[in-house]
Formats: sequence, C-alpha cells, structure tokens
Amino acid sequence: MLSTATQRFAGPDYAGHIGTMVDITQHRRDREQGLAAQKLESLGVLAGGVAHDFNNLLGSILANSELLLADLPADAPAREGIDRINAVAVRAAEIVRELMTFAGHENPIFEPVSISSLVREMLELLKVSISKLAVIRVDLADGLPAVMANASQIRQVVMNLITNASEALGKAHGVISVSSDMRRVLRDDADTGELAEGEYVRLRVSDTGCGMTKEIQDRIFDPFFSTKFSGRGLGLAAVQGIVRSHRGAIQLTSAPGEGTCFEVLLPCAPPNARPPDEARVPEPAPATASAATTVLVVEDEEVLRAAVCKMLRKKDFIVIEAADGNAALEALRGRAAEIGVILLDMTLPGISGKQLFEELRAIRPEARVILTTAYSKEMAANALGSLEAWGFIRKPYHISDLVAMLRSAGE
Ligand SMILES: Nc1ncnc2c1ncn2[C@@H]1O[C@H](COP(=O)(O)OP(=O)(O)OP(=O)(O)O)[C@@H](O)[C@H]1O
Ligand SMILES: [Mg+2]
Repeated sequence: MLSTATQRFAGPDYAGHIGTMVDITQHRRDREQGLAAQKLESLGVLAGGVAHDFNNLLGSILANSELLLADLPADAPAREGIDRINAVAVRAAEIVRELMTFAGHENPIFEPVSISSLVREMLELLKVSISKLAVIRVDLADGLPAVMANASQIRQVVMNLITNASEALGKAHGVISVSSDMRRVLRDDADTGELAEGEYVRLRVSDTGCGMTKEIQDRIFDPFFSTKFSGRGLGLAAVQGIVRSHRGAIQLTSAPGEGTCFEVLLPCAPPNARPPDEARVPEPAPATASAATTVLVVEDEEVLRAAVCKMLRKKDFIVIEAADGNAALEALRGRAAEIGVILLDMTLPGISGKQLFEELRAIRPEARVILTTAYSKEMAANALGSLEAWGFIRKPYHISDLVAMLRSAGE
C-alpha cells in the first residue's frame, strides 16, 4: 500500500513529497485466513445440524423400505424399486458423512500408520477404477517414519486424490505419479504457512491431465465446488478437513493443459509411538439366535421409531417405545425387571445423552445399552466420559444390523 502527501514551503512553492509504503501482504493473508476460518466454523455448525436431522430422515427411509421388503414376496416386482430407494439413502448418508468429516465432526482414532504401505494397498484396490489410458508411476519410499493418523481417513485422502488425477486425464493418455518421501519443515519456510516445525512425510500425487486455472484452484476445496458433470465437489473438501485434523498441510501446483500436483504433508509420529487405546465403546459379540428380548427404544424421531419398532416386533422382540427422556425413565421404572436392552438415541430434546444414560443405568444397571447417533463412535465415547455402553450403532443403520446387535445383547 502506497500513500503520498505533497509538502510545500510557506508559499505555493513545491518542496517535495513525503511517501509511506506499507507491506500489507501479511495483513491480507491474515484477513483471508480469518475469513476462511469463519467460513469453516459456520459450515461446521451447519454440517452438525444437517447431519443429525438428515440421518434421522435417512434412517426413516431405510427402516421403512426394509419393512416393505420384509412384507413383500420374494418375486414381487416392486422389490427392485425399493432396493433402489435403499441404495440412494445409503449414498445420501455417505455424502452427509463426508460433510461431517470436512467440518471436523468425526474425531477419529489416531495410530501410527505407514503411508507407503497404505498407498500401496490403495493402488491395488483403485487399479480397476483408474483410467485405462493412464500409466501409473509409483515411487514410494520404504522405511519412512510412521505418521499419527487415522488409516481410514488417509485412505479416503489417497482415493480422492488419485480418482481426481484419473478424472483429469479424461479420454486422453497420460501419467499419474504417486510418491512418498520425507520433508523437514523449518519455521521460516515460505511454502508451509502455519505448519509446526518438524519432520513430515510427504505424499505426492501428480497427473498430466487437464490442469486448472488460478480461478478454479482458488475454489477447489470449497464444499460442492465441482467442474464435473456428475461431480459432488466433496472430494477435496473432505481431503482438506482430514489433512487439517492431522495437523498437516496440502499444497498444489497446476497449470491448464499441463497437469496438477498435490502434495500432502503429515507430521511424523514420535519414534516410540504406540497405537492408542481402543475407543471405550466395545464391539458387540457376533449374533446368535435367542429367546424374546424386551427392548426399550428411546428415539425422538417418530417415523424412524415407528418403523424400527414395527420391524423389531416382526423379529419377535418385545418392544417398549419412548419418545423422550421422561418417557424412557417412566417406562423403565414401570417395567424395569423385564427390560434387557436399551437402544438409546444420544441426541434427545431436553436432556443430554450422558445424563439420561446415567439415570437409566441407576434404575436398571443390568440392562445393556446400545447407543445410536449420527456422529462417530469416538465422538459418542467422548461425550460419555467414563461411562461405558455395551454397543454402538451409527445412524442411519440397516435394520438387519440392528437386529443382529440386539440379539447378541439379549443373550
Ligand atoms: N487432479 C486434478 N486436475 C484437474 N482438476 C482437478 C484435479 N483435482 C481436482 N480438480 C478440480 O477440483 C474440483 C473439485 O474436486 P473434488 O474432488 O472436490 O470434487 P469432484 O471431483 O468434482 O467431485 P467428487 O465429490 O465426486 O470428488 C474438480 O471438479 C476439478 O475441477
Ligand atoms: Mg473428486
């Protein structure tokens, strides 16, 4: 920014100029970062709200379509359509989950992960879906330090970057290169922004595809930004959310007509890093057949509750319904001795999941509690503090999975 002022002597005679020059690059960068952080925060709030409501709605669609399927004869022509409804609901749930990942609502378990072997596994899987016109060059360093990461999220990063590279080639021949190595980041490094000083594993995915203009580059991490006919524009948004939650960074260089290179930096794990404790919610035992179990279903979303309960009754469970915390406590006080399993929605109006869980447990400590929520298992475990549930099922779920879990809980 440049500003000047003309200086004159006492009379009209020109004496000179005083000029000031201020470098506002940093100021501008700070402002952009501030705006980006704000945008992210509001998206996070939005994604959280949307996720809860949407997963209840999707759960209702899934439960009702599965109910219909159970009623129809095996050769009914309507089955095909219902199967399709089911598949669409599952896909919609995946989209919601990607949004939640982007908004940092996932809070996954981190453990030491070898990037090179993870990428090698993924390349094996992705082979079938990568463009047949692509030559793939792989240069993965062996013996790199592990990174503290969530393996399934890093798989998602690798998959999204390689899928984009393949799509960038379109119908032309080209090269996709995937490599890994180490990089030391110093405080003064110009290209690494906010990254803490230290050792990083660098993953590079580059392609000789269509490349991007500067305008496109500026928007690629925005959720729902896509230049593709059937693109959802969530791939890179999720990648960015994941990399950020790993305290890493992502950089790109790209030129239209020449290609694109994405570089992901992830901090190395300390040399003696051990896998962390498992989440506090244990895996349920495999299901086996058993006698009728009484289940208390605590769920405020009426359509979902009705369909789930109807289906459970069909499967010979004795079901007690509760639409909120009070109804749940009342039901439990009245029929405590009968109730073997409680299916507890963690987000009920008027009472926290943790509080209700504590009260239910005080009345009937013998009942096995299965928690359900749109959030991840780890988030649920965090919200409960030291409380332990018997099982966890994430919304939206297939009724068949719920039935299997309830059966083994009822044993
Ligand atoms: N390797 C690449 N080469 C050229 N353009 C790219 C590349 N990767 C991403 N882009 C651009 O960034 C946009 C956003 O990518 P992103 O992965 O987020 O969404 P998408 O691929 O369009 O859809 P999807 O949600 O299915 O991944 C793309 O539509 C494309 O314009
Ligand atoms: Mg993509």
